[in-house]
Amino acid sequence: MRKKRPTTRRAPAKRALPTRSMLAAMAALAREARERAHAPYSRFKVGAALKTRTGEIVTGCNIENASYGLSMCAERVAVFKAVSEGLDDFDVIAVVADSKRITPPCGPCRQILWEYCGDVLVHMTDLSGRSRTMRLGELLPMPFDGGHL
Ligand code: THU
Repeated sequence: MRKKRPTTRRAPAKRALPTRSMLAAMAALAREARERAHAPYSRFKVGAALKTRTGEIVTGCNIENASYGLSMCAERVAVFKAVSEGLDDFDVIAVVADSKRITPPCGPCRQILWEYCGDVLVHMTDLSGRSRTMRLGELLPMPFDGGHL
């Protein structure tokens, strides 16, 4: 005889969303990191701060090279620093730049973020304090990942 399915199911664990003050604190750290950008070629400085669910925060800035193609974006610097330190389970990345329009992560950074951070919140701000927060899944719909291999 077939076993009866249990009638009660456990609801999926709810993940707490970061508070506004947490997002503001992360933007402040990203802004500080932006000051350390090495961007003599583009003069476009970017800072990032990446957070684990347990509260560790790792920052990054863009680091350019005279051989332009070797330059590295702030977001990827933050991700690679964090992963190399053994951190995982990220929930938010803050990105700060100075431009007329809010600066989102570039395409390659979206792919890298998807690989190591999944569908994180991306909190984008400029120096005037304007901000926009989106899920990575909105910025990178239909992502390619290890599940396709
Ligand atoms: N850049 C970032 O660091 N992050 C972004 O999201 C967009 C672009 C950097 C790369 C390069 O050093 C400079 O900004 C201009 O493209």
